[in-house]
Parts: sequence; C-alpha cells; structure tokens
Amino acid sequence: MAVFLDGWKRSCMCGEVSEQMQGEQITLIGWVQRVRNIGGIIFVWLRDRTGIVQLVFNEQKLNSELYSEAESLRSEFVIGVKGTVALRDENAVNKDIKTGTVEVNATELVIFNEAQTPPIYIEDDAKDNEAVRLKYRYLDLRKPSVQQTLFMRSKVLNAIRSFMINEGFIEVETPILTKSTPEGARDFLVPSRIHQGECYALPQSPQIYKQLLMVGGFERYFQVAKCFRDEDSRADRQPEFTQLDLEMSFVEPKDIQTEVEGAFNNVFKEVLGYELNLPLPRITWKEAMERFGSDKPDTRFAMEINNVTESIQNCGFSVFEDAYKNGNVVVGINAKGTADKLSRKHMDALTEFAKTYHVKGLAWYAMNSDGTVRSSFKKFLNDEANAQLIEKMGLEPGDAMFFVADKKITALTAMGQLRLKLGKDFGFIDNTRHDLHWITEFPLFEYSEDEQRYVAAHHPFTMPMTEDFELMDTKPYEVRAQSYDLVMNGIEMGSGSIRIHLSDVQEKMFRLLGFSHEEAWKRFGFLLEAFKYGTPPHGGFAFGIDRLIMTLSGKESLRDVIAFPKVQNASCLMMDTPSAVPQEQLDMLHLKFDLEQ
Ligand code: AMO
Ligand code: AMP
Repeated sequence: MAVFLDGWKRSCMCGEVSEQMQGEQITLIGWVQRVRNIGGIIFVWLRDRTGIVQLVFNEQKLNSELYSEAESLRSEFVIGVKGTVALRDENAVNKDIKTGTVEVNATELVIFNEAQTPPIYIEDDAKDNEAVRLKYRYLDLRKPSVQQTLFMRSKVLNAIRSFMINEGFIEVETPILTKSTPEGARDFLVPSRIHQGECYALPQSPQIYKQLLMVGGFERYFQVAKCFRDEDSRADRQPEFTQLDLEMSFVEPKDIQTEVEGAFNNVFKEVLGYELNLPLPRITWKEAMERFGSDKPDTRFAMEINNVTESIQNCGFSVFEDAYKNGNVVVGINAKGTADKLSRKHMDALTEFAKTYHVKGLAWYAMNSDGTVRSSFKKFLNDEANAQLIEKMGLEPGDAMFFVADKKITALTAMGQLRLKLGKDFGFIDNTRHDLHWITEFPLFEYSEDEQRYVAAHHPFTMPMTEDFELMDTKPYEVRAQSYDLVMNGIEMGSGSIRIHLSDVQEKMFRLLGFSHEEAWKRFGFLLEAFKYGTPPHGGFAFGIDRLIMTLSGKESLRDVIAFPKVQNASCLMMDTPSAVPQEQLDMLHLKFDLEQ
C-alpha cells in the first residue's frame, strides 16, 4: 500500500471516460465501488464524484504481483489506476452508467488506503435505515444522489449570490452570538463565561441586524445566513437552517418582490434550465384562505373551497343551521371522481383527520357513479336544500363532497388540510409543475391558541398597511400588514415585510403585543433608540435555502438536502450531539443542571 500520492495525478475523472478516448492511456483515482472476480479477469467499478467507470484486470496480461494486488481490492478501497481506454463488446454495454460503452484495461495499480466493510450500502437505492445512514453520514455522502443534491445546493447558492451582487447588494455577515430576537420560536442560549449568569442567544434570523444595516446606510444588503430555532423538528423544519436574507431601503413591497423573483428566476435558469413567468401571481391572504384554506396553498390542483353558508340557513340539518345562527360558516369541497373509491371506513378516517384541526366533525356526501347516494347528513336535509347544495357544489355522479361547520378560520383551515390530503391520496397533484406565487396582505396579528394571546403574525417589526393605520388604535386585530410570503408547491419558501421605521409606531406595536414600556426598552432599546436618528423607510425578505433545494430536488425532507442534518429529536447521530460536557467546563460557566425538576 502506498502511503503517499508520490506524484500520482489523475488525467481525467471517472465519469468523463468516453468512446472518443479509445486507445488513450489514462490515470484515474477514486474509490472501489464493487469488485467482480470471474477467475482470470477482475472487473472493478471505480467511483469518484463524477461517476463510475469499469476497470479490467486481466491475469494473462499483467504481472502476478499486480494481479494479486487487484485480487485484494474490496469496496471503498482508495486506489489509483493507469490503463488504456477500450470499447466494450456490444453485449457487454451497460446502459445504466454514463460510461457503460467503455472500460479501462488496467496496467498499473496503487492502493492508497484500505477500507473496512462499510456499515451501509454506498449505492443510491440502498434500503438502509435512515438512523444508520445518518450515523455514518460521511459514507452516505459518497452516494451519487446525495452528492448531486449538494452540488445542486452549491449551484443554487451561486446563482442567488451572483444575481444579488449584480443587483448592487452587499453581503454582510452578522453575529452568531447575539441577543434574543422574537421570531416566534424558542432561542438557543449560550451561557457567558465572562458575564456570569448571562447568556447570548443564537440568532433566529439576522432580522434586527439587517434593519440596523439600513440605519447604517447600506441600502441593499444580503447574506446567506445561518438561523437557529429551538422548535420541534419536522420534515420541513430543522433547528439550524440557512436563509437567503435581504433588506433594502426606500422600497415598497413590489420592489422587494421583484428582486426576490429575479433571484428565483436566476436559480431556475441556471439550475433547471428554464425561466419563470414573471411577475408571479399575487393572491391576498384572505382570498388564499377562502379558496384553499391555507396561507400557503398548493395551487397545482383545483378542488377549491366553496362557502355554502347562505344556502344552508333552513336546510333541516341542525349542525349547519346552528352554525349559521351563531355567525359561523359552512364550507365544503367537491372531490371529483372519488365517490366510488371512498368506503364508509375511509369517511370515518377522513372525519378523524379533520377533527385533528379542531373542528367537531365532517359532514360527507358521496354520489356513486350509478347515482346512489351515501351521506352522513343527507337524511336531515330537505329536498330544496339538497338540490341547492348539489348545484352550488357542482356535484355529479362519481363525486364526493365534504363540509365543515365552524368559526371561519377554523373551518377553512380544516377544509384546506382535507383538500391537501385528498389531493395527495388521489394523485390530483401534478408533481412535474413548480407553482410559485405571492401571498399578500397578511393580518398584522394572529391569535395564538398556545399562548392564549395575540402575537405578531410575521414579526413585531412589520409595518401595518397604510389604509389600516387608523385601526391600530381602534381594532388592532383587524389590521393588515405590509407583509408577503412566497409560496412554492404549497410550501412557504420565504417571508418578508416593509418594516416599521418610526420609533413611536414600533413602541405602539410592542405595547399591543403585551410588552410594557420598560420591557420593550430593556429588550429592544437599541432599536428604538436607533430609529430616532433618521432611519430610512425599509423592508426585506428571507427565504429558506434548505426548503428551496428540497422542493427543487423533489426530496421529502430537509435532512436530504443538508450535509450534516439533525434528526427529529434535534440530535446529530454522527457526532452524538448534544452531549454531556466535562464538569470543569460547566464550573467555568457557573452552570449546574437540575435534572430532578
Ligand atoms: P421567517 O421566520 O418566515 O422570516 O423565515 C423565513 C423562511 O425561512 C425558512 N425557515 C426554515 N427552514 C427550515 N427550518 C426551519 N426551522 C425554518 N424556519 C424558517 C422558511 C421561511 O419561509 N426575519 C424574517 C424574514 C424577514 O422578514 O425578512 C424571517 O426569518 O423557508
Ligand atoms: P350527528 O348528528 O352528530 O351524528 O352528526 C351528523 C354528521 O355531521 C356526522 O357526519 C358528523 O361528523 C357531522 N358533523 C358534526 N359536527 C360537524 C361540524 N361542526 N361540521 C361538519 N360536520 C359535522
């Protein structure tokens, strides 16, 4: 085994070996993918980050020392090979690999390093358990599909960066050791050694810094920023993730949206090879909720929500009539062509599903293709209401319709989730499409069931809409914000807003969110103070790079698009973090864990 490279340099990459190179002497370096010894001839697949090529070791043509070295090769050995490119016989062509028409007749071999049998299969479709894959992530990373995703990630970042720089944005790095910013999640805290009993917080986003950069006169800032949020992980949430963060001065929402559209368009052009239809469609939050029951609607399929409250006032079904009387709504969807496939058991399961979104039930009505009707509530309906519902919902034989009666947002949200579930279950979603649109005019506040109080729907630095400014004093919870989200295929890609740049408005906002004057100044005094020195009107946006790559690459989870991801319980299985630390380190920080509590 060679300890050093000793001047070995590859003349090309494995994936580049082609028919045009027939007869050429080449040098390759890489990992052994697999070895097939058929007695007298050893076929070795050699892999590097560009692909795989077949090496041939022929006993008759090689000296015995070299041949026996080739016999010792095992998967994941790191080797260098010199050899001649040859065309394969027609019947030996392998259409599954890019270099399948050629092979390399080896004449020299050097083993740079050996490998134990890997604990996972290093091939794309291997069925290893995800926990094992992530424990050995450095081996998992060798798989072509994993590498392709990370190459794509780099390309996407590059496309965004070059666009931003071209547009006159400056990239500024902001601190990781910072103060808690209210983005709605819990902070990760870092205890200070020097300031006993005090903590830094890791930034949930660079929000306040980028606003202060506008106060600092930079006008156009961006950053590929790491953000940290101590919230429960999900497929589309990681405790640490990356944003493309930007901020601009002297702008209105349209100006910011245009830059974001441009950055996305550059990604589509550079990575997918086609351009977007710009400007992207805009849907107000109210319309999105009413039509799709979601502030991040998947518009790749129809099945829009109908409000039938006016048609059911005297329908005979008390659940609906009571909803009307109590000022609630009845909303429904028509799942076209699904009736014959939906058994009673399915309907019960869908009802349970809807109930997880805080509604009391799901009223269903299926008309089989032969015209027979099954329903949880038709027996209560009078004929007129029945006819009206059928007409209003456009029900035809083969269709199934579903209704929920509840408070407006609750009913719409449950219906929106049911729409998505049916869309997925029945394959209504066209996965080949990428649908992007803006959602605008979000409410400034939303009610948090968890905290039992109103919280900022976006964050506390968001400017109310000019038209609604007066309502801040009278009906603050009806105020709409100058905020906007970018949604792609039903996933929230990013959010942004025009910011409050006036100290008194910012103070009022903190007050409405329940901060006392003293508390607001204690936590955000530096910002309120900064706003007193000629702060420019400004606004910005941030989108999730991980979510963008996940969507573009068609992956199901953020774990697939991050080099070293955390799992569901926020741990890293490879490094075994978080982990206990030596007592001296805790002592230095004056920390004691009370695990009894
Ligand atoms: P927001 O909190 O909406 O806005 O975050 C912006 C975008 O970041 C992504 N994102 C996440 N991605 C992965 N894991 C997470 N836990 C996670 N949380 C958020 C999403 C989201 O749309 N400071 C504001 C932006 C601004 O106003 O300029 C902010 O952070 O794609
Ligand atoms: P019940 O009379 O309680 O058996 O309800 C008849 C049907 O109405 C059942 O399918 C229930 O799931 C449904 N239902 C009950 N409450 C609601 C509601 N708030 N919205 C929609 N359907 C409901």
